[in-house]
Parts: sequence; C-alpha cells; structure tokens
Amino acid sequence: MKGILLAGGYGTRLHPMTLAASKQLLPVYDKPMAYYPLSTLMLAGIRDVLIISSPADLPQFRRLLGDGRRLGMRFAFAEQPKPEGIAQAFLIGREWIAGEACALALGDNLIFADHLSVLLRAASARPQGATVFAYRVRDPERYGVVSFDDAGHAEEIIEKPAQPLSNWAVTGLYFYDRRVCDIAASIAPSPRGELEITDLNRVYLEEGSLHVERLGRGCAWLDAGTPDSLLSAATFVQTIQSRQGMLVGCPEEVAFRMGYIDRDALRQHAHDLGKTELGRVLADLAEGAHA
Ligand code: DAU
Repeated sequence: MKGILLAGGYGTRLHPMTLAASKQLLPVYDKPMAYYPLSTLMLAGIRDVLIISSPADLPQFRRLLGDGRRLGMRFAFAEQPKPEGIAQAFLIGREWIAGEACALALGDNLIFADHLSVLLRAASARPQGATVFAYRVRDPERYGVVSFDDAGHAEEIIEKPAQPLSNWAVTGLYFYDRRVCDIAASIAPSPRGELEITDLNRVYLEEGSLHVERLGRGCAWLDAGTPDSLLSAATFVQTIQSRQGMLVGCPEEVAFRMGYIDRDALRQHAHDLGKTELGRVLADLAEGAHA
C-alpha cells in the first residue's frame, strides 16, 4: 500500500503565522506538524509516501524530508496548484499511485492511541473497500460526520452538517482500495468548488464497503488548524513525552521500531539532533534503554 501526506491549503485560520510559512511545518511542541501524520502512515507499514503541497511550500518539505532514504522510506513530491479539495490528492497522485491501494493522511491531524499500529495494520491489510476512523467530539458540525443505525453500521456521512446526526467526526486518515483514483475522478466538485473527501467516502458507504473504525475514549485525535487547537496539540505532546519519556510522532523512532532502519542509523539520527531532548531519547533507544 502507498500513502499520501496532504499538506497544502492556505492555512487561513492560522494567519498571520501561515502568511509566509506552511501550516504543516509549524511546530507542534518539538517537531514539525507533518511529522505526526507521517509517523502514522509509517506505523501502518507504508514505506512509499507522496507529499503534496502548494508550489510555494513544497520546496520546504523536500528540504525537511529529502528522498526518505535516511528513514528507510521512499518519498515523492507533487504540487497542488490550488487547494481544490482533499480528494484532488488522488487525481494529482494518480500516476504515482499506479493502481495500488492508497492511504491518505491530512498533514494537520495527530492521532495517538494505544494499539494504534494494530488498527492501522488491519486497515492497510483490508483488500476491498475503504477504512475511516471516527472520533466522538463535542463540535461535530466542524467535520465530516458519520451516523450509525441501531446495529452500529454506518448509515450516513455528511460534510460539516448544520444539524449533525451524531457526534462522530471522521478523522483525517483514510485507507482506500486500488479503485480510489477512478472513484475520485468520478465525483463532482461541491457547491464550494472542492472535491470533497466526504463525497468519495460516500461512494464506498453506498456500495456497502466503507469500514468505520470507532476510536474509543483512550485515544486522542487533534487537528492543529487553529491557534487554540495548535496549542492543545503541543501541550498534549509535551505532557505525554515529559511524563512517560516516550515520543509522540517521531519518524526516526517509528522507522527503528518498524525495522526500516538499524541501530547504527538511529544512533546517527540521535547524533544529528545534537543536544535536543529528542536526540537524547533517541540515543537512549539506540542503546536499548527504552525497550
Ligand atoms: O480534520 C478532519 C476533517 O478534515 C474531516 O472531518 C472533514 O471531513 C474534511 O473535509 C476535513 O475538514 P477540514 O475543514 O479540516 O478541511 P480543510 O479544508 O481545513 O483541509 C484539511 C487539511 O487538508 C488542511 O491541512 C489543508 C489540507 N488541504 C485541504 C484542501 C481542501 C490541502 O492540502 N488541499 C486542499 O485542497
């Protein structure tokens, strides 16, 4: 399975911070925002990732991430000239995806959960249909919302409904089978002129192949698109890391734990990070202190 990290858009809700900088490269505590969804894709076992961003911001992603070899990954890059919808990622990435199954992670979403990698691996192993993750929120009208029938099966999925039928928001992490590019090509732009990811998900829902995984109360899902949510995400990462001494959303750690890089490579990453706390934790991990 391949993966797309979508990191475009204007980031208008974070102006003036994003007037001259990419939203998805802003810091969330001690790492660039995009590291968190990238780590999620890596945890799903995905090693080929296409990073999509605006023409102005894409060079910064290339500079930060390179070709991925240092993480045992393969990164490719593509421009989205204008933010014309999340589902457009599958039109931009069509040639690169080359008929494989593909996941999509929004560059401003952070998911943290016990056993997340088990859920992710199950989603990426599912040969048919699509998998999305739903999370209970207080303000569902801000998101794509999925509602369920009495038997617990997904019934309807609506983008930013004025009157939500449930409190279950669809998170910015999606797994699709190999038909995804054809289906994306078949949907029409919404009244606001965007190719909506919710319209793509609805096609799978209507054919009975949308698997909705509900994340329970032991999970955290944060999007970092406003000043408040950016601060909440940073505080969350800081709290977990300083309390547990474990890292959240660190691609170097995930690469090591997934076996994409060896101990020597991890030692080198720790060294490159110099005197940072991140470097110290990675050095401990390389010496086996945090099994
Ligand atoms: O965060 C989850 C939500 O993300 C879902 O529940 C919604 O169904 C989905 O539509 C989306 O809602 P948002 O209001 O967060 O969408 P937004 O337009 O803010 O875009 C989300 C991210 O994707 C953002 O970081 C910018 C990026 N993006 C967005 C569009 C429309 C692009 O890179 N290109 C685009 O064309």
